Amino acid sequence: MTETRQQIRIEREGDVAVLVIDNPPVNAMTPDGIVQLVDAIEACDADPAIRAMVMIGDGRSFIAGFDIREFGKNRPAPRKRSYEALDDSPKPVVAAIHGYALGGGLEVALACHYRIAVPSAKLGLPEVALGLLPGGGGTQRLPRLIGAKAALDLITSGRHVPAAEALKLGLIDELVEGDLRQAGIAFARKVAGILPPPRVRDREAKAEASVFDDIRKSIARKAKGQRAPYACIEAVEAAFDRPFEQGEIREIELFREMEGSDESKALRYAFFAEREANKLPDVPKDTPVRPVASAAVVGAGTMGGGIAMCFADFGVPVKIMDATPEALDKGLERVRANYAASVKRGSLSEAEAQARIARITPAQSYEEIGDADVVIEAVFENMALKKTVFADLDRVMKPGALILTNSSALSIDEIATATKRPQDVSGAHFFSPANAMKLLEVVRGAKSSPETIASVMQLGRKIGKISVACGNCDGFVANRSRVPFGTEINILIEDGAMPEEIDRVMTDFGYATGPLAVADVVGQDLSYSVRRRREAENPNARKVPILDRIYEAGRLGTKNGKGWYRYEKGDRTPHTDPEVTQIIAEVRASLGITPRSFTPDEILRRVLFASVNEACRIIDEGIAYRASDIDVMWLYGFGFPRWRGGLMFWADGIGAKAIFDQVSRWEEELGPRWAPAPLLKALAESGTPFREAKPPAKS
Ligand code: 3HC
Repeated sequence: MTETRQQIRIEREGDVAVLVIDNPPVNAMTPDGIVQLVDAIEACDADPAIRAMVMIGDGRSFIAGFDIREFGKNRPAPRKRSYEALDDSPKPVVAAIHGYALGGGLEVALACHYRIAVPSAKLGLPEVALGLLPGGGGTQRLPRLIGAKAALDLITSGRHVPAAEALKLGLIDELVEGDLRQAGIAFARKVAGILPPPRVRDREAKAEASVFDDIRKSIARKAKGQRAPYACIEAVEAAFDRPFEQGEIREIELFREMEGSDESKALRYAFFAEREANKLPDVPKDTPVRPVASAAVVGAGTMGGGIAMCFADFGVPVKIMDATPEALDKGLERVRANYAASVKRGSLSEAEAQARIARITPAQSYEEIGDADVVIEAVFENMALKKTVFADLDRVMKPGALILTNSSALSIDEIATATKRPQDVSGAHFFSPANAMKLLEVVRGAKSSPETIASVMQLGRKIGKISVACGNCDGFVANRSRVPFGTEINILIEDGAMPEEIDRVMTDFGYATGPLAVADVVGQDLSYSVRRRREAENPNARKVPILDRIYEAGRLGTKNGKGWYRYEKGDRTPHTDPEVTQIIAEVRASLGITPRSFTPDEILRRVLFASVNEACRIIDEGIAYRASDIDVMWLYGFGFPRWRGGLMFWADGIGAKAIFDQVSRWEEELGPRWAPAPLLKALAESGTPFREAKPPAKS
């Protein structure tokens, strides 16, 4: 029998008992922890020498919520819930919060009689991000404490509220500078005589009827396709139309429904996939990491400017250089315009925008950037040009600097040959727009050192990105796995589907924007030049004549108001354009194709199965560490709907066998591009899920 680890300690401080939660790293609440907490509260209740209690977290946090790994498992019902034990306690309990009080952690704090916090603490009910709703009374207590509107905002957004805002909202009673434990004890002594202690559950719940309709309307776009945000609202409504106990029952019913939902399974998977991506089997956790206090970017185009903003946004001074003063001026102008747009939208203050702009310094020569801790090359996708830049960087960068390329497809190994220090070189592939998209693909060259990879992974996190590492090949993991998706869309259009039809299928699936509308935002010129390079290297690459014609007709995308669609000035709403319909008809006729119709399901499966098949090759070649890394890349790089988990998680919902059978049929019907990947076949035969597929062990 395994011994239960003690997660709660009672430490006596005279007439106050300090209940210390101790379950590293973030004090997540486990079923055992709950039993122990209830026992501890009852023991203190029974002890006449104790007048009040303080609940505090050991280590870096109060309680970061219920243990997410427990969801979906059969959990025995506890003798008593911790919230009930707190409700029943005749003695005041003060929650003393530092680090995070999230989910079940904040719900415990809400059941305490008082809450105090240090200024750096963050509080929230982020269950919605896991496809859940607060299931520990949070939907009943929070609106009673801070009102329906503020509670609905917190619960449906899941955002983490800083302590100062929590004080303003009335979520906490006091902000504490200095020693939290001592402050908690002093507070407990101050309120020990106020009996019975005040309970949030006893407060009156009042709300204006319109508040629920308003929130439903305001979340409609973001919550499309999902149930959890609406379940959150239903549970909060129950706080207003029935007594507390009945409201709790409704909350638990809804919680159980969501815990078993596909949506929550996918979102819980995404939570852990994201954290798994940090773990690289061949880069040990204790690998030294180079600190980055200053940065440089070469190339002041859209990507270079966006990358410079990433550093400036997170307080890192950055120099930006380009070949000519004109290009540099234009780049800086674009950066200033981006910040001005944020100020106009209200998402950034003018002062903060100015502070960020001040961190970006133009540089006229390589010599001026040599002392940066990291340099990111972001020039045009051309191997000869990149090698020239890298030779210059090798010449000027100080020893130990990280020398990175933002290439989206070119060989890191070949770029690194232009330097005498390939160990310091790796890919740092940002996604467009670089300052907004959260994915950073960290591409490992054959000679990149573990220290370089660990440092770039950490650097990504420092500037607010989700870093995912992978090996080197044309297109790396993200773009390579997505190319078949794009190719298949073009073939579907040749064969009879229309752009708006495909975009509708994908937005119905859950994408915020259809892939063709996105391609117009990215720019048709960029993908055209990548195709020309690929065709030069591989004459057998499948041509996409409709897309080529779109570009050759001068249709660059939203930047000049016409691409796959037509756009009105200053507006990104796509409109069908007869000129595109004409191009499509002409190409079909020239290829001798009689257009046919496709069902939405056929469209969806054609584009996504093509990518699943390629993803299997990528895993088999050891270019991706694991299937879940591909999912994280699709979530953060390509806007794949998070509540579907990711490409490979979605594919697991269908099953490797069904996908292999379909892909094999398409190979016969549509040709060799559909040849099933060997790993797809192997998974289908063994019944292994995609998410358990591992790259071959390195010999
Ligand atoms: N359950 C289980 N494990 C958790 C956890 C949780 N609630 N929160 C964090 N962890 C684990 C992570 O998986 C990670 O494990 P690893 O080291 O093995 O990869 C480790 O703790 C550290 O987490 P992070 O790497 O994420 O650490 P950060 O410092 O970057 O972030 C955090 C800390 C903001 C607390 C972040 O971990 C987080 O957002 N956690 C989830 C919070 C949450 O969603 N709570 C609600 C849970 S649902 C609930 O409580 C239901 C209730 O209503 C009944």
